[in-house]
Amino acid sequence: MPKDTILLAYSGGLDTSVCVKWLQEKHNANVVTLTIDLGMVDMAPIRQRALDIGAADALTVDGREEFVKNYVFPALQAGAVYEEQYPLATALGRPLIAKYMVEAAHRVNAVAIAHGCTGKGNDQVRMDVSAGALDPNVKVIAPVREWGWNREEELEYAAAHGIEVPPSNSSYSTDENLWGRSIEAGELEDPWAEPPEDAYLWTKAIAETPDDPTYVEISFQGGIPTLIDGEEMGAVQLVEHLNDLAGRNGVGRIDHVENRLVGIKSREIYESPAGVVLHAAHKSLETLTLSKDQARMKTIVAQEYSDVVYNGLWFTAHRRDLTSYVASTQRHVTGDVRLRLHKGNCTVVGRKAPKGLYSHSLATYDRGDVFDHRASEGFISIYGLPVRTQAAQHPEDA
Ligand code: ARG
Repeated sequence: MPKDTILLAYSGGLDTSVCVKWLQEKHNANVVTLTIDLGMVDMAPIRQRALDIGAADALTVDGREEFVKNYVFPALQAGAVYEEQYPLATALGRPLIAKYMVEAAHRVNAVAIAHGCTGKGNDQVRMDVSAGALDPNVKVIAPVREWGWNREEELEYAAAHGIEVPPSNSSYSTDENLWGRSIEAGELEDPWAEPPEDAYLWTKAIAETPDDPTYVEISFQGGIPTLIDGEEMGAVQLVEHLNDLAGRNGVGRIDHVENRLVGIKSREIYESPAGVVLHAAHKSLETLTLSKDQARMKTIVAQEYSDVVYNGLWFTAHRRDLTSYVASTQRHVTGDVRLRLHKGNCTVVGRKAPKGLYSHSLATYDRGDVFDHRASEGFISIYGLPVRTQAAQHPEDA
């Protein structure tokens, strides 16, 4: 009888490399790997490694464009920053990885998909729930969740099976894509300890950043960034460019003690240079282009949206509905934002919008003022009416 096929999401790291062998042994199956590039992936050696370890086939997919256009930019428009700190790079990547996995599993007739997420994190939830949303009958195997080894035991298994430990295997656990890099474990587990400099790869230490500020101008069309300093850029290139520019100025470091879905508080470091810059720019442009009520409602939606993404509920009607509201708010979010990147700080220093709601002739204290100052008297009289009424009845409440 021919062996069953299991499709494994493969990063090339130690965990998923061990998964190849473990699945072959434990399930007596052919293991086909799928490596998905959401940015920062050097595909050829990863593919070769999967084959060397014994994968029956090693598939690859370039998901960068889809990731930025359909996951990152909608989240940017929503202002999705989990617990006001984390731009959700890892969390946004998981549903797309699950989507590619389910599609490929159908193509290769796999009986199950497998991934290397641990049993303690959010990612297992995002992967399993997303896969189930796309194929309610999918079977998901999470070897790391099942084998329950500590690091030493895993290294022993790797050695016994001739699996090389990647040289980059540091004391941290990391995940990265175009929208950011997530770093945890090791020394970072002490929330009181300052993150060692070697935790960071994309952002320069302040001492190594240029003494002169870098100015950057970002143009948005309907809430989507399209030009940098007047130059048109594709979505992927634009994010890469800002990661580089901001990272060189030490912008984009985030130190977050977060509330995981599985009930644990965990300290994670993030590097998201483009994320920090784009969220600051986008938010600033909205100050000109949204009404007070829209802006207020949008902060409520932003919080809900970021929880939905963080909690693995991307492929749901609820997320679609929130996205529709957000998309509707973005139709006039068009204009330019100028920012100064300097010594770890990203500061918006100017914004303009052709169809903005800011009116200089209403705001000015100089000549040209068109605001009717005398009309304020009547406004205040009625606005303050319930306060005066209450004061007359309950003077002790003032
Ligand atoms: N805490 C982040 C999240 O839940 C990142 C998870 C992956 N982090 C890692 N260092 N492997 O989205």
